[in-house]
Amino acid sequence: MMHSVPDTASGLSIGGQAIRNRAFLAPMAGITDRPMRMLAARYGAGLVVSEMIASAALTTGHQDMVRKLSRSPGLPHMVQLAGCEAEWMAQAAKVAEDAGADIIDINFGCPAKRVTNGYAGSALMRVPDLAQSLVEAVARATALPVTVKMRLGWDDDSLNAPDIARRAVDAGAQMITVHGRTRQQFYKGEARWEQVRAVVEAVTVPVVVNGDITDVARAREALDLSGAAAVMIGRGAQGQPWVVGQVAAALVGEAMPATPEGAELVPIVIEHYEGVLSEYGVEVGVRAARKHLDWYLEAANLPLSKATRKLMIESQNPSEVIALIEGIFGGDMLEAA
Ligand SMILES: Cc1cc2nc3c(=O)[nH]c(=O)nc-3n(C[C@H](O)[C@H](O)[C@H](O)COP(=O)(O)O)c2cc1C
Repeated sequence: MMHSVPDTASGLSIGGQAIRNRAFLAPMAGITDRPMRMLAARYGAGLVVSEMIASAALTTGHQDMVRKLSRSPGLPHMVQLAGCEAEWMAQAAKVAEDAGADIIDINFGCPAKRVTNGYAGSALMRVPDLAQSLVEAVARATALPVTVKMRLGWDDDSLNAPDIARRAVDAGAQMITVHGRTRQQFYKGEARWEQVRAVVEAVTVPVVVNGDITDVARAREALDLSGAAAVMIGRGAQGQPWVVGQVAAALVGEAMPATPEGAELVPIVIEHYEGVLSEYGVEVGVRAARKHLDWYLEAANLPLSKATRKLMIESQNPSEVIALIEGIFGGDMLEAA
């Protein structure tokens, strides 16, 4: 059956905040830090979201939570809070507002045991009254638009995203993002975009479909099956932060910005690497940057010897890594085909 395709050409707004297009970068703890968000924004993402910030820890000034609160330029500053106590969530929302947040997102989706054991993240989907009260508390505490990101439900016997979304909207939420998996799936199986349609039908605010969207074709299919207003891309943007902007352009029929290739990648990868070093300091940064270097290599699919890859990924010496980035992405250190 063909479903109606949502009108993705006209403007989208979240509580009065104009959003420039319909493809967003998903929040990913440890990955979508400020350097990654800056790149995705520059290459045309419609929205980027901070890493999940633990609300109680933020209110006590926990250094890493405060770091996660920092703004990346160019787009509305959307800050994601996690927690399961209304008081902490409200206080954290105020801290985020004072720090310049434009939109507060609440995490109802994280499947990690250390988060769900405290009834935060996706565990909130099992306690609808508590989930609703958190949205209410945050919406009362700040003048900012509040949004919620969730999964389809806890497991296949409780696909209650439509009910949770309706409650969240009653409590003041102005946009709902749904990762088309249950908590018990973690990241296994495939995202079920068609299940997101019941959420679209349950609420009047924009719904964003998420999970396994990696390119324009999949974005169109996800929008078609779900009827959602926008897509959110997470892992598909690793090592290729321009993908979100490419999808955004294609969805409105604009020419897609070209994929950077070969030597064009050199300044981008160096900027990301140096951004991570300055975000975390060199000692932590050299380790935090490894996964990104590996993803850039993987996405570029370069003929590289294992030894050279290892050298770049494992080096603790920033100037050596930068020279390797130049040699590898510039082409001088590649294996003969
Ligand atoms: C390493 C990792 C960290 C994540 N951290 C967060 C987070 O902080 N907040 C959140 O709402 N979702 C988080 N997610 C979930 C993603 O936002 C997204 O819902 C999920 O990865 C599915 O989308 P994708 O297939 O496009 O990656 C994380 C996912 C991954 C893989």
